[in-house]
Amino acid sequence: MSTKKYTVITGASSGIGYETAKVFAARGKNLIIVARRLDRLEALKEEISAIDPDVDVVIRAADLSSNDEAIALYESLKDYPIETWVNNAGRGNRGDITDPELPNTLGMIHLNVDAVAILSSLYVRDYKEVEGAQLINVSSIGGYLVVPGATMYVATKFFVSALTEGIDMEMQKGGYKLRAKVLAPATTATEFVQTANDLDEAVDYSQKYTRFSTAEEMAGFLLELYDGDKTVGEMDFATMKIKLSDPKHPHLC
Ligand SMILES: NC(=O)c1ccc[n+]([C@@H]2O[C@H](COP(=O)([O-])OP(=O)(O)OC[C@H]3O[C@@H](n4cnc5c(N)ncnc54)[C@H](OP(=O)(O)O)[C@@H]3O)[C@@H](O)[C@H]2O)c1
Repeated sequence: MSTKKYTVITGASSGIGYETAKVFAARGKNLIIVARRLDRLEALKEEISAIDPDVDVVIRAADLSSNDEAIALYESLKDYPIETWVNNAGRGNRGDITDPELPNTLGMIHLNVDAVAILSSLYVRDYKEVEGAQLINVSSIGGYLVVPGATMYVATKFFVSALTEGIDMEMQKGGYKLRAKVLAPATTATEFVQTANDLDEAVDYSQKYTRFSTAEEMAGFLLELYDGDKTVGEMDFATMKIKLSDPKHPHLC
C-alpha cells in the first residue's frame, strides 16, 4: 500500500476534469487520472509536473461505459489510499426522445449512470469510516431541472444528484465520516457539445451561448465545494457563481 494519498478524477482528459486535476495538483494533491485518451492524460501529467514536480500522477486508461472496465479500474487501485474520488466523466447523447439512437443513448446511460453507481458504491464501501474522505459526483443543473430536448441526459443527471445526496444523508445519519457532494454545472465551454453531437470541429461557445463558464472556473467551483461543508454546489445563472446548499431533492427524513 502506498504511503501517499491520492485524488481520483475520471474524465480528466479534457474540460472540467482536466482543469480539476490542475487545481488539485496546485494544492499538492497526488492524482490518479482516468479517461480513454492516453495521449491527453500523458500531456496532463507533463503539465502537472511543471506545476509541482513532487505531485505523483498515476494514469489509468479505461472505457467507463463498460461495467467490467469500471469495476476493473476500481480493483486496480486497491494499493492507493484515496482521499477524494471525483466521478466527472460523462457525456450527452445524440438525437432526442422522439428519435432515439439507442446504441448512442445506452452508451451514455452506461457512462453517466452505471459507472457512477459502481464507482460511488465501491468507494463508499471502502472509505465510509475514513476521516476526510470525499466523493464528488459531477451532475448538472439538469440534475435538478427537467429540460425538454435533453430528457434522457437530464434523467441520467437526476440519478447522479439523487444518488449523491442520498449517500451523503446516509453517511451523516449513520455517523460515518465520508462526505458525498454534487457539483451541478451549467453551460461550460468544454468538448461536451462537440462529443454529444459527434461534431468534427470544436464548438465556439462564445458564438453559440450568451452565458457560459470556462472549465477553469468550474474547476475552481468544484474546489469551493470540496473545501466547504455543504452537499450541493449548483451553478447560479444570476451570478455565474456556484451556490452551495444542503440536499435539494425532496426526501423522506
Ligand atoms: N460542459 C457542460 O456544459 C456541462 C454542463 C453540465 C454538466 N456537465 C458534466 O460535466 C462533466 C464533464 O464534462 P465536460 O463538460 O468537461 O466534457 P468533456 O470536455 O467532453 O469531458 C468529458 C470527459 O469524460 C471522458 N469520457 C467520455 N466518455 C468516456 C468513457 N466512455 N470512458 C471514460 N471516460 C470518458 C472524456 O475522456 P475520453 O474521451 O478521453 O475518454 C473526457 O475526459 C460531465 O459529467 C458532464 O455531463 C457538463
